[in-house]
Amino acid sequence: MHGQWSSRWIYILAATGAAVGLGNIWKFPYLAGEHGGSAFVLVYLVCVAAIGIPMMMAEVMLGRRGRQSPVNTMRTLAKEVGVSSQWQWLGISGTLAGVLILSYYSVIGGWTLAYIVKSAMGTFTGATGEAATNLFAQFVSDPLTLFFWHTLFLVMTMGIVARGVQGGLEQAVRYLMPSLFVLLVVLVGYAMTTGFFTTGLSFLFTPDFSRLSGTSMLAAMGQAFFSLSLGMGTIMIYGSYVPEGTSIAQTSVAIAIADSLVALLAGMAIFPIVFSQGMQPEAGPSLIFETLPVAFGHMPGGLAFGVLFFILLLVAAWTSSISLIEPAVTLCVENFRMTRRTAAIWCGLFTWVLGLGTVFSFNIGVETTLFDMTFFELLDFLTSNLMLPLGGIALAIFSGWLMTPQVSQSELQMQDMTGYQLCKCSFAFWLPLRCSLFS
Ligand code: PFF
Repeated sequence: MHGQWSSRWIYILAATGAAVGLGNIWKFPYLAGEHGGSAFVLVYLVCVAAIGIPMMMAEVMLGRRGRQSPVNTMRTLAKEVGVSSQWQWLGISGTLAGVLILSYYSVIGGWTLAYIVKSAMGTFTGATGEAATNLFAQFVSDPLTLFFWHTLFLVMTMGIVARGVQGGLEQAVRYLMPSLFVLLVVLVGYAMTTGFFTTGLSFLFTPDFSRLSGTSMLAAMGQAFFSLSLGMGTIMIYGSYVPEGTSIAQTSVAIAIADSLVALLAGMAIFPIVFSQGMQPEAGPSLIFETLPVAFGHMPGGLAFGVLFFILLLVAAWTSSISLIEPAVTLCVENFRMTRRTAAIWCGLFTWVLGLGTVFSFNIGVETTLFDMTFFELLDFLTSNLMLPLGGIALAIFSGWLMTPQVSQSELQMQDMTGYQLCKCSFAFWLPLRCSLFS
């Protein structure tokens, strides 16, 4: 039987858990750092409001209407509106993207586990920037170590997924999400004691439009999309568990606000800490694993707060990773008549094997490239730059143009025609913008 969230509140927690991930705490701060801070933040927030929220509503709407895995939902809905059943490919590509993303997300999730242990052991106490860089390089160069942490992280993920919607996913988010917010607020409180809190705030919030380039706008839009987990079926499957009578518009707004708030709070925690040690915010992807540990290593109470920071990162990655595999597990249950536990084991095993490609991308396979990209870079490119945007375009076409207004209006419960038309316009507006990503 298809699952259902036990309340609207649990759904908001679960979908926020799916949305809040490495993207918010790892990617958002370094992108903001690279693209000039506040100007990037502003465009990002506009993209979330103008494109993200309507797209989320569309995806939840399709999920709740179909009430199956994304593949079967798309097949059923295509039949309902009288178009080709090939629309199921939207579900297939989304489900596949989830597995591909999880295969590398799990490796990075494993890094956060390892960094909790390293921080707790005082590895970074008094460390120089060079030492932290060497430590990171040494860490990723050992395939066995990465293999171990990747395995552990994936077992933790599949352990929850195997227990089902109410027994697994709900129980996990019920405890993990409040912990995540508490940890974040504690870390922001800690950042306030550094004496550089206002420097961090002005970096994040003082608009500097001279730094706004076309590239930074595209980066902000891509990040809004990735951060809200749109375009690949995870929000669709979470939507399929939403009880009747829940307002899709209100919950989508709540989820988008919570997701953006976490990204902003993460920035408010990270930048003052980085500035207080005279370090630069433009470090890129290594900001979290190289710059930040050094900063913690030189601060009073840095050991405890460093550990808390990596626990926060772990929780964020964990609640997202369970959502990434959910479409594939449900598909196996529906189409191959597997029990949920068996489906979780098979999907987990497949993802685990695929993840080895990412493990080796940082060491023995670093020279093995295709189109000048390692296996990990190729997967990231394929999913973030091709599968998610294409999935999003297809989703916009289907929900904006093919679904009949009666169906979408009744699912969205939008008696107010202005709001409804605004949403439809946004799907249409979003399309050419997204296409420009390919140019
Ligand atoms: N939204 C997640 C993050 O910000 O890290 C990443 C993600 C999770 C993307 C689930 C897509 C997805 F389906």
